[in-house]
Amino acid sequence: MRTDTGQVFRLEDYRPSSFLIPETDLTFRLSPDSTVVIAKLTVERREDAPLDAPLVLDGDGLALKGLAIDGMPASASAFVATPDSLSIPKPPHARRFLLTIETELAPAKNEALMGLYRSNGNYCTQCEAEGFRRITYFLDRPDVLSVYTVRIEADRKEAPLLLSNGNPAEAGDLADGRHYAVWRDPFPKPSYLFALVAGDLGVVEDEFVTASGRTVKLGIYVEHGKESRAAYAMDALKRSMRWDEETYGREYDLDVFNVVAVSDFNMGAMENKGLNIFNDKYVLADVDTATDTDFAGIEAVIAHEYFHNWTGNRITCRDWFQLCLKEGLTVFRDHEFSADQRSRAVKRIAEVRTLRAHQFPEDQGPLAHPVRPRRYREINNFYTSTVYEKGSEVVRMIRTILGAELFRKGMDLYFERHDGDAATVEDFLKVFEDVTGRDLSQFALWYHQAGTPNLTVTASYNKEASELFLEIEQSVPPTPSESRKRLMHIPLAFGLVGKDGQDIDHGHVDGAAVENGIIHVRKRRHTVRFSDIKERPALSLNRGFSAPITLSIEQTQDERAFLARHDSDPFSRWQAFNSLLADALMVGSRQIRGGKEPEFSSDLTGLAGAIAANEALEPAFRALALALPGEADIARELGNNIDPDAIFAAREALSRAIAKANASLFERLFAEFSGGNTFSPDAASAGRRALRNALLDFLSTSDPTRAAKQFAAANNMTDRAAALTILAHRHAAKGQAEEALACFEARYRSDPLVLDKWFQIQAAIPGPQSVERVRALMRHPAFSISNPNRVRSVIGTFSTANQTGFHRPDGGGYMLFADTVLEIEKRNPQVSARLATGLRSWRSLEPVRQKKAREALLRLAAEPNLSADLRDIVERTLA
Ligand code: TRP
Ligand code: ZN
Repeated sequence: MRTDTGQVFRLEDYRPSSFLIPETDLTFRLSPDSTVVIAKLTVERREDAPLDAPLVLDGDGLALKGLAIDGMPASASAFVATPDSLSIPKPPHARRFLLTIETELAPAKNEALMGLYRSNGNYCTQCEAEGFRRITYFLDRPDVLSVYTVRIEADRKEAPLLLSNGNPAEAGDLADGRHYAVWRDPFPKPSYLFALVAGDLGVVEDEFVTASGRTVKLGIYVEHGKESRAAYAMDALKRSMRWDEETYGREYDLDVFNVVAVSDFNMGAMENKGLNIFNDKYVLADVDTATDTDFAGIEAVIAHEYFHNWTGNRITCRDWFQLCLKEGLTVFRDHEFSADQRSRAVKRIAEVRTLRAHQFPEDQGPLAHPVRPRRYREINNFYTSTVYEKGSEVVRMIRTILGAELFRKGMDLYFERHDGDAATVEDFLKVFEDVTGRDLSQFALWYHQAGTPNLTVTASYNKEASELFLEIEQSVPPTPSESRKRLMHIPLAFGLVGKDGQDIDHGHVDGAAVENGIIHVRKRRHTVRFSDIKERPALSLNRGFSAPITLSIEQTQDERAFLARHDSDPFSRWQAFNSLLADALMVGSRQIRGGKEPEFSSDLTGLAGAIAANEALEPAFRALALALPGEADIARELGNNIDPDAIFAAREALSRAIAKANASLFERLFAEFSGGNTFSPDAASAGRRALRNALLDFLSTSDPTRAAKQFAAANNMTDRAAALTILAHRHAAKGQAEEALACFEARYRSDPLVLDKWFQIQAAIPGPQSVERVRALMRHPAFSISNPNRVRSVIGTFSTANQTGFHRPDGGGYMLFADTVLEIEKRNPQVSARLATGLRSWRSLEPVRQKKAREALLRLAAEPNLSADLRDIVERTLA
């Protein structure tokens, strides 16, 4: 684990390996403290590799118990084994030879949750990115594809269930109460897709008949007694399988597809071939324990992992620099799936909010990197919002530029041309060049350049000439180690909205390529001239968020209010109102810092009421529009010299102002949306609950009665958790939340996923006391420093969703944070490093907090023996 040699991996250093491993035969003799792994590797020298090439296999903390070459025990002088590698300086000269490697593991002691470990008494694995080398010595790199046969042996009582990738081949009894199963996966795959699960679990079974008529057995494995909570995931899985057939012509390819839910997991889920392993948070749901957000998350993650079967598994990555090739593309596919299953408009707004909340600060801070990075020290730290979410936006732009039909043609060619390959971003772009004859080299900069591009747009209208001019200027800000940027191809969707709210047909255009409602910005400056424009239109720009950029545009409040009422593009309509709110909050927070009371216009509060009451709009859209920009959103807009207390106060003041101005309207709407007693997780029902709970939040700014009532009467977790959040966040100081929190705890004491919500709600209670509150939560008997979900719900929530507490001016929040990061790091470097990114925006804080945050980072940096994961984040954050 402590193997940080400060080594940097560079994209340009990629070389194919000298050896391949066409076949891998694994035997596991499972036991918690000494599992024996016997790996029989068929090793093949590559055609063009020199005969004297040494064979060097990767390891990570391994203990070699035995080594044979072509069946003969290897002499001590024939190899060098360390925990981190196994070298054979002079391998046999034959083209193919057999290596038999025996290692011994202690899964029960594996707290890093990479490689083979135990969760709740079950065995499971996590091998992406470099966890397979914690199981056996191997060429642990994604361009080495192998056909796996896996034999698992275990105690039948302890582990009646034995699963691995591919199709089941054989099973039977052994002596001493043990048994075995053999699995064979016919599809060559990289080691990061290997998986094994063994234990005692309940199952939900189903079937799926593919488009070509093959029957696939589906299984979702969960803790005994939780089977009914897997029904929604199973439904989402079948819908995902159908969708990929209908949308991309992609069928499933094995006889079985299994999903296992585990409660100790570093990330969301993992797409191991035929055996997906999930954080149980993304499998288990029912009306009593899951919110609408949880249901939507399950649908998205089930789809994401399933879609990886083609984008990631059948076509994998040449090296880890190409991570976005599978992740960005697969996120794009799961986004589109959810958009088709739910409301496209609402989904798009939610996506953009997430992108801005996570990717924008990453791209604008010390950890900025291109969608396809060129160097890394620790690959685990590159499973980022930039690779995933911005990576998805880049694929979306390809579709926007090409149109849906040519995009599909390109995807068809990608699947046809690269099935079975370990591919690159260049391969991906090439298929779209080939189906269109276009040159995408300027567009490719989206993969290569970090930073959020900005477009400055100035509009002028000439009434006499009936002409509208747009001056557009692009700039890409400098990012770490990339000070000079090249000009990008930015597809800017737009509309000109007339007085009647209809789009004006912009007859003649010159100055830039404008096609199908998109301005293709490619140069530093463009002047676009629209002629025959009879009245000054309102400008609707970056419709549907066609490009992941920031926009600087002089627009009057009236023009934005007009767009908020009339824009035919739902995203832009939401955006127009949201930017009015953000402006008001920025002005308000400056007023507060200047010692003044913030003031908000009745136009703004009135518009909030008009949107809330507009029956032409979906309830879910109205709820999103009424959600004030978050504290972190305002901080990002302000850019520097951030005082989180002032932002918080401004936000509270605006909530109260909107609530006061619309009191009777909100009261009426709240009652109107309160009907209906049967719960359904569908998007329309969820949207009604979202609107109602947004209204409840406003109505509760001064009076907790309604929230207390809803908490007591709720028949579903969405309403219960929303009411509890309001009570805890708005009324905790007055002692009006204690009873509800105690009641919730008593009810869900033995349900870890629900208890996570209880921890989360409290870790987010704003104000200076939250440092002590979080320390107390960490002393709660149910707190566990080794469970990632629990850690994220307490310390993760505190550092990302509690701006006033975490950024307490005396630095108390940062100290608690640093202590905890170090404690977690001893067990699980990956989780601690992810957590540590919570300080990445320290430079935008006001000077007093900035100094304290830096001290906390320096304390982390000064710690001897930091893991590669944490050291990488801390050093880049400070650089
Ligand atoms: N490939 C996984 C996904 O679908 C990501 C993942 C799961 C992961 N577990 C991991 C990455 C552990 C690194 C380490 O997105
Ligand atoms: Zn993924």
